[in-house]
Amino acid sequence: MKVIVTGSYDESCAVVAEMIKDLVVSKPNAKLGLATGGTPVPIYKKLIAMNEAGEVDFSAVHTVNLDEYCGIPGTHDQSYRYFMNTNLFDHINIDKANTFVASGMGDFEANAAELEAKVYEGGVADLQLLGIGNNGHIAFNEASDHLISKAHIETLTESTINANARFFEKKEDVPTKAITMGMGDILAAKKVVLVATGLAKVPAIKGLIMDDVITTQNPSTMLKMHTDAVVVIDKELADAVGYKA
Ligand code: PGA
Repeated sequence: MKVIVTGSYDESCAVVAEMIKDLVVSKPNAKLGLATGGTPVPIYKKLIAMNEAGEVDFSAVHTVNLDEYCGIPGTHDQSYRYFMNTNLFDHINIDKANTFVASGMGDFEANAAELEAKVYEGGVADLQLLGIGNNGHIAFNEASDHLISKAHIETLTESTINANARFFEKKEDVPTKAITMGMGDILAAKKVVLVATGLAKVPAIKGLIMDDVITTQNPSTMLKMHTDAVVVIDKELADAVGYKA
């Protein structure tokens, strides 16, 4: 696992946007695994600017998103389909038919099976972008005594519901279940790039980069088994976990 320490969160986002741009420039039909949450928003802003400047062309790119809440439609302003459209897809020259976010409506099991198929359709992702939960979750694979390999329905933990309540009017509005890629799906990507910032992530990042232990209680630690995993953190977070480059 490679750890990159940058001077600031904005610099972290610039580094990751550059990685994605370089990939798409060298492989115009690249497949990207994408993430939602607060962390990647500036990365997407930078990709939009690069696309507008003609530095990168998304017309042949395919994308698959990590997860989606159960019980809210893609038109809901907190659905991950809505997030991806408004934070990225509506502003770049991607063909939305080539973008996949699992449906959170109808038959959840069937939707999870569809996500599982999309992870492998046309080959695995060239790059999977990841955030990390305060509890070390990756996508919605929550800290637990076991983890699940394939796409499935996950019950969100109190920690995740609390963390995501900021996006909803009230905590009770946060869906309690989600469809998520499994850990095997995520580790199948050719390259995984995890970005983290903020002191709430200290315990999770400590477990990820400060020792060699792999534990289902911090799902991110499974990335230690990937041969091309990159963790991008800023100096503030590196200092807080005691990481020395
Ligand atoms: P955040 O979420 O980017 O909003 O902190 C990350 C995650 O839960 O994976």
